Formats: sequence, structure tokens, C-alpha cells
Amino acid sequence: MAEQKRTIAVIGATGAQGGALVRAILADKGGPFAARAITRHVDSDKAKALAALGVDVVAADLDDEGSLARVFAGAYGAFCVTNYWEHFSPEKELAQAGNLARAAKAGGVQHVIWSTLEDTRKWVPLADDRMPTLMGKYKVPHYDAKGEADHFFRDLGVPTTFLLTSFYWDNFIYFGAGPQRGPDGQLALVFPMDEKRLPAISAADIGKCAYGVFKRGKELIGKRVAIAGEHLTGAQLASKMSRALGKDIRYTNVPPEVYRGFGFPGADDLGNMFQFKRDFNDYYVGVRDIAFARTLNPELQSFDQWLAVHKDQIPLP
Ligand SMILES: NC(=O)c1ccc[n+]([C@@H]2O[C@H](COP(=O)([O-])OP(=O)(O)OC[C@H]3O[C@@H](n4cnc5c(N)ncnc54)[C@H](OP(=O)(O)O)[C@@H]3O)[C@@H](O)[C@H]2O)c1
Repeated sequence: MAEQKRTIAVIGATGAQGGALVRAILADKGGPFAARAITRHVDSDKAKALAALGVDVVAADLDDEGSLARVFAGAYGAFCVTNYWEHFSPEKELAQAGNLARAAKAGGVQHVIWSTLEDTRKWVPLADDRMPTLMGKYKVPHYDAKGEADHFFRDLGVPTTFLLTSFYWDNFIYFGAGPQRGPDGQLALVFPMDEKRLPAISAADIGKCAYGVFKRGKELIGKRVAIAGEHLTGAQLASKMSRALGKDIRYTNVPPEVYRGFGFPGADDLGNMFQFKRDFNDYYVGVRDIAFARTLNPELQSFDQWLAVHKDQIPLP
């Protein structure tokens, strides 16, 4: 019965990760959970679409700890994610994560998932000049702030699963990571990974894996869970994309310093990110366990499966 379901408050419910978790909760009609969708804008089209599906949609802002405490009150679980790309500020991301941890503690939330990433400074200390230090004290700002923020949850004793996500294949559609056309007219995926593998996943599967984490109950509290759908090289990604789209798409490897100089907002951050994944590839790939992710989410997609659904959405220049 619906009133016996345990509530999971979902931050980012109108976005990729949180939205996918809400859909996973809804899809499991007889399942143990109900979603409480958190958004700043309850009147947005995406929020209204969730309400139309019968989801409880409530307002809160990551910048306002009190608002988070109100929407976490009475919830069994909370899915916590921050959106670095809205403000490009690691300090703001840290402050928002602190607000989430304190609000979860105050609300007595029994299981938090914190969508985190590595603090790359544990691998590349600031003094290591193989990649530039950015914003004074970061190597990969959008990773480092999330990883540093883990301590807010640990220090307060919030029962937390630390979910380390992977590059979304959806970036080929929405994040400008799709094929570029070179001066010779050749279509290419361009990034600085040499022949190393890039752990990646469908954004929808992050939400489904998070759902699987909640379903495991206490088992994964205090654990770090790193997920991916497949570990493919740039050449393999390009070859699969070529086949799916019926176009000749190559992989063009560029040095990280060239990528950092591309000039779009965050190019330096992403250049360092790819270099981190390249230079610590054994760790980075090794920890992102596809088989385990599939136990959390038996529908975990391969890149070919993702392409079959999304190939027509990939913009070609
Ligand atoms: N792209 C990738 O490959 C990738 C891979 C791993 C991790 N990530 C990380 O994923 C994060 C973004 O997650 P996403 O892709 O799921 O986001 P998204 O699709 O861009 O949506 C952002 C979500 O965050 C919510 N939000 C943002 N600021 C908020 C605030 N101040 N208060 C309340 N809600 C707020 C938005 O809600 P409203 O606008 O409705 O309020 C929206 O639901 C980034 O930090 C990024 O580093 C990305």
C-alpha cells in the first residue's frame, strides 16, 4: 500500500541522475519506496511532468540548509547530488554538500547516497606539475570538490553510500562531447586519453544503480560504490558510433594541454580530468565495476544498447 512506502527525497529530480532515480522508483510499482522530488522551481515544465506522474514535488535549494532539512524530514532516504556546471565553483559545491549532510543528519535520514567523484589531489598533489593547478587549490575542480565533500557525511556519521559515477554517454548529446568536424571534413571524437579506456554509462543507469543501492538497505552504507556500463577506448567508442550512425567517425587523440586550451568554459578542468583518467587508468577503470553495477541494475546498458536508443539525438556538425 502506498502509505507504507518509505520516502526517498531526491535532489536533482528534474535532472539526469535524480530524474533517473525517480523514474526507477516509479517503474517498480510494487517496490518499497516512494519518491519525493526536490526542485527549486516547482512550476517548471520538468517539475510539473513529475507531478503529473503522481510524484510528490517539493521546493528546496541546495544553498539553503533549512529548506533541505524541511524536505528531508520524515524521509527514509535521500539522494544527494550537486550541479557543478551551473556555477563552476568548487567552493559553492562544497558548501552545498555541507548543507546536504547537515540537513540529512538533522532529518534523521537513514540512508543517504552522495553522488561523488575522486578527490584527484590524492593522486596528483598540488605540487605535482604534470597538470596545472586550477583556481588556486584544485587539479580537477569538479571532481576534487565532490571528493573533499565526502568528509561532511562521514564526520557527522550520516549513514551514507558514496556513489562514484562515470562519464555519461549522454554527454555526446547534451554536453558538447559529440563528434567534431576537422578542417579536412572528418568527423571525430576528440579527447586526450591516448588508447586508454574511458569508463562511461548511460545517465539513466546511474539512477537505476542508485535505486539498487537503496534496495540493498544497510549493506552498502559506509561503502564506496563505483559504477560504469562499459570501459571503452576512444577508438572503440568512435567505431561503435560510426556503425550506429552510418557515418565515418574517428577518434582523435590530443595532448591534454591542447584540450585544456580549447577555450570553452571548463576546458582546463575537463583536460585535467581526462589526463587523470589516462594517467591513473588502472585504478580508475579497475574500481568502476561493471559486474557489480549490473547486480544493482540488471538493465545496465552497453554503449551499443545506448546508441540503439539515442543515435538520432547525437548532433553532427
Ligand atoms: N556529465 C557527466 O558525464 C557527469 C559524470 C559524472 C558526474 N557528473 C556530475 O553530475 C552533476 C550534475 O548532475 P546531473 O547531470 O544529474 O544534473 P542536471 O541534469 O544538469 O540537472 C541539475 C539538477 O540539479 C538541480 N539543482 C541544481 N542546483 C540546485 C540548487 N541550488 N538547489 C536545488 N537543486 C538544484 C536542478 O534542479 P532544479 O533546476 O529543478 O532546481 C536539476 O535537477 C555535476 O555536478 C557533474 O559534475 C556529471
